[in-house]
Amino acid sequence: MPRATAILRHREEVVSGHYLLTLDCPEVAKAAQPGQFVHLRIGDGTDPLLRRPFSILLAQPETGEVQILVRTVGRGTGIIATHDEGVAYDLLGPLGNGWEAPAGGEDVVLVAGGIGVAPLIFFADGLRLMERQPYVRSIFGAANQEALVCWTEFAARCDEFTAVTEDGSAGETGLVTDVLAPELERDRPQHVYACGPDGMLAAVARICRDAGVPCYVSMEQWMGCGVGACLGCAVPASAGGYVRVCADGPVFDATEIDWERMKRR
Ligand SMILES: Cc1cc2nc3c(=O)[nH]c(=O)nc-3n(C[C@H](O)[C@H](O)[C@H](O)COP(=O)(O)OP(=O)(O)OC[C@H]3O[C@@H](n4cnc5c(N)ncnc54)[C@H](O)[C@@H]3O)c2cc1C
Ligand code: FES
Repeated sequence: MPRATAILRHREEVVSGHYLLTLDCPEVAKAAQPGQFVHLRIGDGTDPLLRRPFSILLAQPETGEVQILVRTVGRGTGIIATHDEGVAYDLLGPLGNGWEAPAGGEDVVLVAGGIGVAPLIFFADGLRLMERQPYVRSIFGAANQEALVCWTEFAARCDEFTAVTEDGSAGETGLVTDVLAPELERDRPQHVYACGPDGMLAAVARICRDAGVPCYVSMEQWMGCGVGACLGCAVPASAGGYVRVCADGPVFDATEIDWERMKRR
């Protein structure tokens, strides 16, 4: 498995509790594909014991830099929030399968919920470099304006951008799914790519299924090993049994996931 050392070059609190980390890690910067993630060891000791997974937000092979966006939710991310420039992380990566762009130049609709924007920024960046560039529309939803983290970076990489907030403090009022359903009525072939909370992904998958539109989701589950060995990240598969988010994903065709069993977990 690919293992590397990443040096923290810059840490910026982009909004309260959300940190953009710029890491010096040439190996990952060269190899990373949109949708992949890194598995970071935080600290040298046993607290926390397990690595923590973060999507790659951008990778610059020319400079050797990799960016990740970290929302503080607990012990590990809380420690990262205190780290100064120069801290060295032992990381595994890039891991996972990543997004695949539509082969036939179909329109792309990117649907992000909260911190789920991170891998979609990298994907939107990659789509702009394609020989046959697809038309890219994005829908970014969050509880409020502040939680639309890095929205300018996302919007700048898309042809059309719609913000949606639950409290109406920015963009349209409601949920991303309120905007997605009418979007899919356009009379052009399109593919949907989504990353966000499980409930949002389940709703996006249902809307796409009903509209007959291919949909790919990136899942963010709790992880142990990050390389397919512990089954800590397993999610129910529609074919029966489970798939591993770290080794089989994190990106899945939405029809591969059993969303009903996901709900009951
Ligand atoms: C493939 C993948 C990509 C991810 N990308 C990002 C990213 O770009 N930015 C980001 O901020 N986070 C991302 N996450 C989630 C991130 O890994 C967790 O928030 C982090 O591991 C929590 O660590 P902690 O020690 O701070 O939390 P803990 O102290 O371990 O837990 C605090 C709380 O967070 C919950 N939690 C822990 N891990 C996860 C998880 N994986 N998903 C949802 N809730 C969790 C726990 O259940 C608990 O309620 C990603 C997860 C995966 C699997
Ligand atoms: S985290 Fe161990 S199998 Fe996925």
